[in-house]
Amino acid sequence: MHPRDDSPSADEALGRAAGLLRAAERVAVLTGAGISAESGLPTFRGAGGLWEGHRVEDVATPMAFARDPSLVWRFYNMRRAALGTVQPNPGHHALVRLEERLGEGRFTLITQNVDGLHRAAGSRRVLELHGNLRRVRCTRCPAALDRGLEELGELPRCDQCGELLRPDIVWFHEMLPQDVWMAAGRAVGTCQCLLVVGTSANVYPAAGLVRLGRDYHAKVIEVNLERTPASDHADETLLGPSGEVLPRLVQALASGGR
Ligand code: OAD
Repeated sequence: MHPRDDSPSADEALGRAAGLLRAAERVAVLTGAGISAESGLPTFRGAGGLWEGHRVEDVATPMAFARDPSLVWRFYNMRRAALGTVQPNPGHHALVRLEERLGEGRFTLITQNVDGLHRAAGSRRVLELHGNLRRVRCTRCPAALDRGLEELGELPRCDQCGELLRPDIVWFHEMLPQDVWMAAGRAVGTCQCLLVVGTSANVYPAAGLVRLGRDYHAKVIEVNLERTPASDHADETLLGPSGEVLPRLVQALASGGR
């Protein structure tokens, strides 16, 4: 059972947050694993999280891949297989409605998630900071491609050069793709409202976007089950599951006109 704040003050906070969105010419959204939790995908931290059953150092670093690529591929093949059984939830769909409402040029969705559920829901302007589970790339040549959810085996090889493929995921100790990161910075630095959803906000550089938004005078709205380091920068923190809070927030925005 998710904690949920039904108090009158929570309704007021929701109304104020809708007002912040309404006043914004441009909106940026930063999402994390929490938005996909109600689709049935585990988050990373906390009880039952992915990092409880696996050590980051064993499965999510370039050093881990160099040492034991089979182990790393087993971890990512398990996560790829899980994608076949899940669908976007009402939180993802609410962000699609927000983008439709604002229109082109006024909305950017930045996600740390690699599950592809924002695009599956219908979001169009999506920046994937940490890559995507469906994509692979070669460890030697420039080949990079979408292999969908096809079974890849433990040590998949490149069709072009025969070298080992790796998941197209940003691992710890790796740089974010430069173009995606720059676009995310521009979106956050030029928006008037930043919506931060379902992230523990402690993995950098992504978490630094919250502070960046604040420094460039964006109003910050946070949606999470609990307070996080982002809460210190937030004008409004809406506590509750994003699959419930986001539809209510977008509904409140719509019923307020403009
Ligand atoms: P975390 O697992 O660190 O945090 C998930 C957040 O979602 C927590 O703050 C939860 O309270 C919140 N949450 C859980 N269920 C929720 C729900 N139904 N509604 C709203 N909030 C909910 O995941 P991230 O912050 O995404 O990186 O982690 C950031 C990065 O660390 C990931 O992209 C991944 C990981 O290591 C890489 O693998 C490179």
